Amino acid sequence: MDARFARSRGPLRDAKIAASQAIYPCGSQPDSIEGVGNDRYNRAMPLQKRIAFIGAGSMTEALVTGLLKSQVAKPEDVSVTDILAARRDHMQATYGVRIATDNQDAAGWGQILVLSVEPEHMDAVLEEIRPRVSGDALVISVAAGYPIARLTVHLKPDMRTVRAMPNTPSSVLAGVTALTFSGNATTADQEAATAVFEAVGKVVVVDESLMDAVTGLSGSGPAYVYLIIEALADGGVRMGLPRQVSELLAAQTVLGAARMLLESGEHPGRLKDRVASPGGTTIAGIERLEEGQFRATLMSAVEAATRRSRELGSSG
Ligand SMILES: NC(=O)c1ccc[n+]([C@@H]2O[C@H](COP(=O)([O-])OP(=O)(O)OC[C@H]3O[C@@H](n4cnc5c(N)ncnc54)[C@H](OP(=O)(O)O)[C@@H]3O)[C@@H](O)[C@H]2O)c1
Repeated sequence: MDARFARSRGPLRDAKIAASQAIYPCGSQPDSIEGVGNDRYNRAMPLQKRIAFIGAGSMTEALVTGLLKSQVAKPEDVSVTDILAARRDHMQATYGVRIATDNQDAAGWGQILVLSVEPEHMDAVLEEIRPRVSGDALVISVAAGYPIARLTVHLKPDMRTVRAMPNTPSSVLAGVTALTFSGNATTADQEAATAVFEAVGKVVVVDESLMDAVTGLSGSGPAYVYLIIEALADGGVRMGLPRQVSELLAAQTVLGAARMLLESGEHPGRLKDRVASPGGTTIAGIERLEEGQFRATLMSAVEAATRRSRELGSSG
């Protein structure tokens, strides 16, 4: 593992990072993925704002890595704080960013404030920082299942806020983040939030009511794909391939197929048809997948995870 991502503790310590592009205004998501890779926001323009992170776990480390690598922010424009001294020290030593003395210091310093603590700690952090957050600041929360209305209840009703749902591949700069904005967020706010998450992957904008579906698809999705990769590799081993070779073949196949889809903008069915020649090997494999209800099972997985996300959100 990359030493930069070493965590002293934390449930997602191995989770990592991301790259970016597509912005679909609320309610105008395209039917196809045309336009991916063709958006006006993917400019790697410097933010030229002070950005403060509260909570220095996997997600913050991913975002800081991406912001610095893409030169969207300079180390002196980034401040980080965490409850754990070891995390603060690690962030300062590794990235040369400013370390805030505490959450209130971070809140007073940041023109953009990224709240990246566990959802169960959000209420307390918001109450703690409320007196220090400037009315001009933009507050971005990445806490899973934490609604915008709850952010503003704890801060100020007129605070401009953003709710973000990134995913773990953000840690290798290949994430995807869904954003939703409070009604009073300006175009400049939207561009700034987009720039932050484009530093670690692609960005889409959705209505907040769709955030649970995002969680069920791209939030949980990396786990589904790991299962697929593991199963493909097992199949290779079953057929006599060495484990390591099999895993590489499986993972690179998933990566390559995804890249072809994104870069070509073609319908996945059309790309599938090109691999499956009449009477050939691929169509024989596909037949097995259809018998096992592969596609219906994946659809149900997204539905189940979305429902669970709704349940968790309403019980919070
Ligand atoms: N990782 C992902 O891919 C991902 C994806 C989507 C959304 N998110 C969201 O991103 C947020 C952070 O996730 P993560 O994976 O980075 O979690 P994480 O690795 O556990 O990091 C959170 C950090 O915040 C610290 N913290 C807790 N309470 C604090 C407080 N009062 N003041 C300052 N720091 C505090 C934690 O310390 P302790 O360890 O002592 O608690 C921990 O170091 C979560 O809300 C999560 O829902 C993450």
